[in-house]
Amino acid sequence: MSRLIVISNRVSVPKAAGAAGAQGGLAVALNSALREHRGIWFGWSGQEVEEFTGHLDMQRNQGVTTATIDLEPQDIEEYYNGYANRTLWPLFHYRIDLTEYDRNFGEGYERVNARFADSVRPLIEPDDLVWVHDYHLLPLGSLLRAKGVKNRMGLFLHTPWPPTRLLVSLPFHERLVESMLAYNVIGFQTEEWLNSFLHYLEKEMGLPIGEDGHVEYQGRKILCKAFPIGIDFKEFTEGANSDEAKEAHDKLKASVRGRKMLIGVDRLDYSKGLGERFESFGRFLADNPEQASQVVLLQIAPPSRGDVASYQQIREDLERKTGHINGAYADVAFVPIRYVNRGYPRRQLAGFYRAAEVGLVTPLRDGMNLVAKEYIAAQDPEDPGVLILSQFAGSALQLKDALQVNPHSIEHVSETIKLALAMPLEERRRRHEALYDSVRDTDVVYWREEFVRALFGEEATPDTRE
Ligand code: G6P
Repeated sequence: MSRLIVISNRVSVPKAAGAAGAQGGLAVALNSALREHRGIWFGWSGQEVEEFTGHLDMQRNQGVTTATIDLEPQDIEEYYNGYANRTLWPLFHYRIDLTEYDRNFGEGYERVNARFADSVRPLIEPDDLVWVHDYHLLPLGSLLRAKGVKNRMGLFLHTPWPPTRLLVSLPFHERLVESMLAYNVIGFQTEEWLNSFLHYLEKEMGLPIGEDGHVEYQGRKILCKAFPIGIDFKEFTEGANSDEAKEAHDKLKASVRGRKMLIGVDRLDYSKGLGERFESFGRFLADNPEQASQVVLLQIAPPSRGDVASYQQIREDLERKTGHINGAYADVAFVPIRYVNRGYPRRQLAGFYRAAEVGLVTPLRDGMNLVAKEYIAAQDPEDPGVLILSQFAGSALQLKDALQVNPHSIEHVSETIKLALAMPLEERRRRHEALYDSVRDTDVVYWREEFVRALFGEEATPDTRE
């Protein structure tokens, strides 16, 4: 079996079976993928060093070997806070209003990608498969090719890919996309993002798109395909049945004292639609006064990317909205919104999901959204909760039996909350069964196997450029 060299901006290995609450979907999925495969996970340590040295810190934790580098402050500012999170992230989530275009960011992005390439190059052996992840590292493949790496290389994008009309607002968009064509396989979460990418290649670069998403570029065939990511179903459901999960469930249940509960779990990010969610909940309370003291919303939102102004802004907005709704509907022994800015160990989260009658997953735009899948996996099949899911999450294409909503429509979400809370057991079971099967069958193992198979595959021809 070939080794996998996984490369992503962030490398985060759980310290114990139930650990690490504030991880994004990428970290959770990659941990599982690597535990099954021999290989190395390379990326940024998350640490800052005065001057970049390229020193590799190699460690082995929970069956996963990691190799990390520290970055210097200018790198973090221009590459991570800058190009990745002030330019690409908002643009890829259709927030052109928040997208900042700054030449220094672009230069920092290229510099750090080159540092990644220099540092990881010596770790790559001839038979390894190289698997690069996410928007932080789009040009890495081409930089590795320039250093003579002939291995098969794939890229998987965890976020949406924007429509061409948005992407062309990015200065040097052609250069960025062209650099991606050094990979043998380019994977997206859904057909929608895939089609946007192929549209760009066709319309902006004049490339013919072949059968099954094959693209020919400079004599090579590149496979572009959707590989919807899943959760580590086995690990998650085992965790959901652990004592730790049960204890978390019982404590939370006892604390709501017979009230019904809705749960949201999201990184504190403007793409998650938290403001609209709070407003919808407020509307539900206003329109259903008889239920107003009988329902609680638990929103867990660990802060993220706090050095970026739009994240500070969303945090303030949410504090104001929570205060407003709680001020209006709380009484001395009850608050309708429990808003918590911290992460929880995954087993405890599983207990919280099971305790909630409704899962509220209402992003304005999301590559996939694994919280929706975790909520389903954590339910008691005899008495399952109801998932309310945004039609703009990648997972909506798979989770057809969720109650799908337009998160921009406060009325629609508010009415759907009412419907979910009143849904008869029989319908809840029927929907849950279908959702559960889909989450189980297309889990993270399936995702990894499909991607690695494509990376090995005969469909694309090996890179023979000198
Ligand atoms: C999303 C991105 C990941 C990122 C995660 C957490 O899931 O796709 O690449 O790691 O968010 O964000 P952070 O900036 O804290 O790494």
